Amino acid sequence: MSDHDQSTQLAPPAGAAEPGSTKSDPILVVDNVVRHFGGMTAVDVGHLEVQRGVITALIGPNGAGKTTFFNLITGFDRPTAGAHWSFDGSALDKTSASRVARAGMVRTFQLTKALNRMTVMDNMMLGARGQTGENLFLSWLKPLWSNQEKEIRDKALGLLERFKLLDKQDDYAGSLSGGQRKLLEMARALMSDPKMIMLDEPMAGVNPALTQSLLGHIQALRDDGMTVLFVEHDMHMVRHISDWVVVMAEGKLIAEGKAGEVMANPVVIDAYLGAHHDTDLGDDALLEEGSDMEEQLADEVAEEETSREDQA
Ligand SMILES: Nc1ncnc2c1ncn2[C@@H]1O[C@H](COP(=O)(O)OP(=O)(O)O)[C@@H](O)[C@H]1O
Ligand SMILES: [Mg+2]
Repeated sequence: MSDHDQSTQLAPPAGAAEPGSTKSDPILVVDNVVRHFGGMTAVDVGHLEVQRGVITALIGPNGAGKTTFFNLITGFDRPTAGAHWSFDGSALDKTSASRVARAGMVRTFQLTKALNRMTVMDNMMLGARGQTGENLFLSWLKPLWSNQEKEIRDKALGLLERFKLLDKQDDYAGSLSGGQRKLLEMARALMSDPKMIMLDEPMAGVNPALTQSLLGHIQALRDDGMTVLFVEHDMHMVRHISDWVVVMAEGKLIAEGKAGEVMANPVVIDAYLGAHHDTDLGDDALLEEGSDMEEQLADEVAEEETSREDQA
């Protein structure tokens, strides 16, 4: 899809869209998702729509509430009463994580200690249950899927091939490199045929040599018709692959729009400057520790505009 088609489809108003702006074909619609920890409000999202079939980045300073928000809408945590959210037309509030996954909304998980001690193939087989967390061991013990086992195994082999992990299928997941783990997390999430995949910091701990391949895989998901929602600290990656960017700070949505617009938005710059951004932005980030962030953002925007003009 060309850049032009994207902007027509999303039809943002001139300049940056207001946070919570409507989308032409939202797959996810969230209302009043709030979560307090003690006296602190970690998440307070009034309204959010995620457009179907595009890559949306959720960014914001460390502690903004991004991971908590992911946990809430995927059923791994419970919001305060009054929250509503729907996915692909069905209400998802008050459902369990496994039902959310079965509805087609799947988040990746970092490999836990237990998963590290299992082989790559066994991790894939677990992914087919559309379950993560504590319940997965119960589902593993139940011989529910013996009939389907071959089908599931074939699907796993296909995905492992696509993610270049086929020769690792019998290795322990714990022996994989940082980038290979990320690929496995993604491959495992795809075992349940999600409509939307949610990635929390897919680039964290990834060797730069694998970055490009990971980016390609994420774009391929979108090109296959999947919706992608990801949290990422690496602004270079956000700029490079997002069709749309939503910004969170102190639990609230503060801006959304195209990457270039959002990163030039003074509200967003203030939110990053007001936070401990040195711990927030990863090694690969263009916004390096100790640098003048505002200047860098301005430079990036200028760079982006130049390259757009070149393309036009
Ligand atoms: N289980 C928890 N108990 C208490 N506070 C939490 C818990 N999980 C997250 N928080 C707090 O909620 C805020 C949002 O955290 P988080 O969602 O992890 O932010 P982000 O992913 O944007 O960095 C932070 O202040 C964090 O310390
Ligand atoms: Mg987080």
